[in-house]
Formats: sequence, C-alpha cells, structure tokens
Amino acid sequence: MSDAEEVLGRVYDGRLLARVFSFTRPYLGLVAVVIVSMPLLAALELAQPYALKVMIDAHIRPRRLDGMDLVGLVLVGLLAAEYLGRFGQSYLMQLLGQRAMNDLRIVVYRHVMSLGMAFFDRTPIGRVMTRLTSDVESLNEMFAAGIIAALSDVVKLAAIVGWLLYLHPRLALVTFCALPLLGLLTLAFRRLARTAFREIKVRIARINQFLQEHVSGMKVVQLHRRESAVASEFDRENGGFRDANRGAITYDAALFALVEAIASIAVAAIIWYGGRALVADLPAARAAQSWVGDGRAPGGMVTIGLLVAFIEYVNRFFVPIRDLSSKYTTMQSAMASAERLFALLDTQVPDAPRLDTDEDAVAVPGGARIPKIAIEGVRFGYRDGADVLHDLSIEVPTGGTVAVIGATGSGKSTLVKLIGRLYELRAGRILLDGHDIRRLASGALRRRVSVVSQDGFLFTGSIADNVTLGDQAIGRAEVEQALARVGLTERLAGRGGADARVIERGANFSAGERQLLAFARALARDPEVLILDEATASVDPEAEGLIERALAELMRGRTSIVIAHRLSTIRRAGRIVALHKGRVVEQGTHEELIARGGLYARLYAIQHDTAASMTGSR
Ligand SMILES: Nc1ncnc2c1ncn2[C@@H]1O[C@H](COP(=O)(O)OP(=O)(O)OP(=O)(O)O)[C@@H](O)[C@H]1O
Ligand SMILES: [Mg+2]
Repeated sequence: MSDAEEVLGRVYDGRLLARVFSFTRPYLGLVAVVIVSMPLLAALELAQPYALKVMIDAHIRPRRLDGMDLVGLVLVGLLAAEYLGRFGQSYLMQLLGQRAMNDLRIVVYRHVMSLGMAFFDRTPIGRVMTRLTSDVESLNEMFAAGIIAALSDVVKLAAIVGWLLYLHPRLALVTFCALPLLGLLTLAFRRLARTAFREIKVRIARINQFLQEHVSGMKVVQLHRRESAVASEFDRENGGFRDANRGAITYDAALFALVEAIASIAVAAIIWYGGRALVADLPAARAAQSWVGDGRAPGGMVTIGLLVAFIEYVNRFFVPIRDLSSKYTTMQSAMASAERLFALLDTQVPDAPRLDTDEDAVAVPGGARIPKIAIEGVRFGYRDGADVLHDLSIEVPTGGTVAVIGATGSGKSTLVKLIGRLYELRAGRILLDGHDIRRLASGALRRRVSVVSQDGFLFTGSIADNVTLGDQAIGRAEVEQALARVGLTERLAGRGGADARVIERGANFSAGERQLLAFARALARDPEVLILDEATASVDPEAEGLIERALAELMRGRTSIVIAHRLSTIRRAGRIVALHKGRVVEQGTHEELIARGGLYARLYAIQHDTAASMTGSR
C-alpha cells in the first residue's frame, strides 16, 4: 500500500484551500454572487420566525385582523424567495465547482503528460488515475457540499446568535446555556472520528489495491484455478472495511442523537424560563395593548410571539450542527485529495527530458535529406540505478541500416527509448545530421524519426485511428496505402478494413497483426529515420513472411537502426552491432563477425539451428 493513500488530510488547511480556490479565479463573478448570497439568504431565512412573531404579537393576540393578510403574504414571499435563492445558490456553487475542477483536471493531465517516462516507471498507473478521477471528484464535492455550505452555516449560526441576543438578551443567554456542552461534544467527536476515518481510508486503499491487482491479473487467477482462494482473501479485506465503518457509524449516530438532545434542552430552557417571564409580564403586556413598533416588547418583555420565534430559531440553529459529521467527512477527504493532487502537480522528474524545447530549438534543415545518425559516448541508467548503457557509440550512414543484437537485458530497448528522447542521457550525445536531438524541436524530431517499439500499444477505436493517432495530416488514402504496404489489407478485409474496431489494448488482434499495425503507423508518417525494436513474440510462419516483407518495405530509403531478433532482418542490415551488458562488444558486417567467431557468431549459430529445425533451413 502506498504511503500517499494513507495520508489522512486535515479538515482545514488554509494553504491548500487557497490553492484550490486559485482555480476559481477565472470565475470570480460566480464566487462573488455565491458569497453575496450567503448573508442575503440568511436574512431571508431569519426574517421568517420574526414575521411569525409579528403575526402573533401584533395581530392574533390583540385580535386585530387588519394587516394580518399582509403579514401572511410577506411570510409566503419570504419562503418563496428563500427557496428560489437556495436553488440559485446551489446551482451556481456546483457550476463553479464543476468549472474549476474541470480546469484543474486539465492542468493535472497536461502536467502528467509532460512528465518523462522516468516518472511512469516509478508510479503505479492506478495512482495517477485516482488523482484524476476520485481525488478531483472529492474536491468537487467540497464545492457542492463542504466549504461553501459550511461557510453559509457559520454565517447563519452567527446571525441567529446575534439576532436572538438583540431580541431578548436574557432569554438568549438562557437558550444558549447548553452551547458549551455542544462545543465539548464536537471536539470529542472530531477526535474519535479522526481515528475511525483513518482506519476506513486504510481499509479502502487495501481493497482498491487488491481489486486492481486481481482484476487485471484475472487471467492468471483463472488459469491457475485460484478463484476460491482469492475470493476468501477478498472476503477478509471486505470484512475489515465493514468493521472499520462500524466505528464511524457509531460516532455519527451518537453525535446526531446528542445534538438532538441538546436542541431539546434549549427548547425546554426557552419554555421554562420564557414561560415564567411571560406569566410575570402578562399584566404589563395587557396594559401596553397597542405596541407594535420594531417588535421589541417594552422593557425586555417576553411575549408569546417571542417564545414561538425563539423555538423556531433554535430549531434552525441545530440543523446545520446535526449535519456536521457529513461536512466533516467531506472536508477531510477533500483536503487529503487536494494534498495528493498538488503533490502530483509539484512533481518534477529531474531526469525527464524537456519535451518542449521549441524555444531554443535549431531549425531543422529541409526534410528532403535522409540524415545520418551518430550516437556518441552515450551513458545512461534508470532512476538512481547503475548505468545500463556505458559509453555507447554507433554510427549509421545516410540511408544505411544498422542491426543491434544482444542477449535479453543487454540494453537494446533502452537505446531505442533514448533515441526517441523518452529519457535524458547521463553523458554523451545523439546527433541527427550533426544536430544534437536535444536541441531539435520535439515536433521536428517526431516528424523525422519514427520509433516502432517492442510492445506496440493499440488504443480503443478503429484501425485508421490507430494508424493516424489523431494526426490530421495523415489522410485516409495514406492510411489505406500504409495498411496495404504492410500486407494487412487482406487480413482486415472481413473485419471492416481500416474501420475495423480495436478493443481495449488491441486484445482482438493477434501479436503479429499488432506488430504489422505498428509498422503501418510508422510507414504512414514516412519518416526519414526509422528506429525499430523488433517484437520478440513468435508468430505463425505466414505472419512471419508478412512481417519480413513489411520490414523490407519499411526500411527502404531510410536511415534505420533495428533491434533485430530475426536472422532475416539482421542479414538485411549493412552493419551489425553486438551489445553485451550495455557495451558495444563487436561491430561489422555479417561475414566479418562470423569470421571473428565472437558473440555474434555464437548467437547466430544458436538461432540458425533453432530456425532450421523449426521452419527448415533459410
Ligand atoms: N523502466 C525501467 N526501469 C528500470 N530499469 C529498467 C527499465 N527498463 C529496463 N530496465 C533495465 O535495463 C536493462 C536493459 O533493459 P532493456 O529493456 O534495454 O533490455 P533489452 O536488451 O531490450 O532486452 P530484450 O531483448 O529482452 O528486449 C535491464 O537490466 C532492465 O532490467
Ligand atoms: Mg527489448
């Protein structure tokens, strides 16, 4: 389990919140409307019990009917205005949240794309996905139900306290006598809930990790008949999660019940104290039959209307407190998500190549010339690891082909990735016609150099989409032509041709077909330089023949470096470079190297025998 998933956010973190809210800057108008609406809505809400009080004290009790309809209308108007206002506020708040989070998601995604492969080597894919989906979502939730609702509540609570103190200070003090108890209760809840929530987070992270691993590894699970063992393991994880939730549910229910109890105490206090005062004040109130004024009873007098209003206010006071725990959870997970999102946004991978070097890029001389490639003294290692390539130098003349061979793990694919500029070199240079590829604009480099990697990845969509990869410059005709040249046209004939559907990861295509498609992708770009990492997967003899022909087609008229496993590919190359543990140990033509009797001669002998025994001598 990753450390990042275990981090339990604080409920409130000003620094983080400020950063989240910086994403609302383009929508300041919305923010302003939402903020201004808070005290307005609070006023609309608080005016209602007061209207009730006026109705009782000024009309019902003195039995004065004129003007009563008006007060009734005002009350209805206040209600309607409040609910319309709440609708508008909630709508705008969520609109604001959605817009800001949409922007945040784009910013994070762009940032993730700008990170070099070195980042992806050390970060589980699942984690990146969680950042962009559930973490952004829980921030969004904070907009919809957390921070702004909490702020509204605070405004409302303060307004109620202030207003009651103004209406009748003594009665207000008696009403709020239970507030310190409430304060203590909330503190205790926070402490207990924190532990419970941490446990829940840890448990859900474990379930996620378990599912991610076992669903993606389903094939292995089923092939080895591990279903029942895996199921009981999942039972255990799931049970742990359920038990962890029990704690949180207990605190939540307890808080709810206790807040209700305290609210009842407050109402009891109003009736007890206010009732006595009412009875005591009754004769004086009778005497002052006609006061209406600003609604304040003369001399702090308690009236029946005042009592009703107080009870009404107290009920409204306790509603937001009752929902405290849900806001608490929302804020807490939002803060934790913000922390993780910003940590990702702040990630800089020191060994990542700067993918966009356009500002200091040298202009590439017209693309008409087929360039030569020079790899000079390249040294490279992954992360902080030891060097994988040591002082590597290879030259490929204009239009020439060099085949690179070597045992598994000798660094061949690594070399391909370096030419494709997926990583930064530790030392040395790679030159294209004398220009360091680091100084070429990435767009220019990608146009001139096509890299076909060992594991050609297919995206969901059509075959044509996978060939163009969204490049508008590649037309339908070029796609068809590329498919024809690699010999895929016939194979795709019954499946919709260039429009054939590709499902996730290209699972509905065979290894050989996927490789041919990768070739077509390169061909359609008509690059001047081709870097090819031949797939090791063995395919049927028919596909083998197709691939061989496609390869010949692919290499014609270009400068190429091919990481070759097939003897036919190796022999087609003018020069052969043999790698051993990241060093060039031999280079020369096929005949020279055979004559030398070294590494190549040994590999050749082994492969030749195998090939001969499999397909007859070649
Ligand atoms: N992303 C990575 N992070 C860390 N080490 C890596 C990474 N990719 C490769 N290596 C290491 O670098 C070395 C060279 O790997 P590379 O993939 O270049 O071998 P290769 O010659 O292409 O092998 P094969 O013939 O099996 O494809 C290996 O020891 C490998 O463990
Ligand atoms: Mg490889």
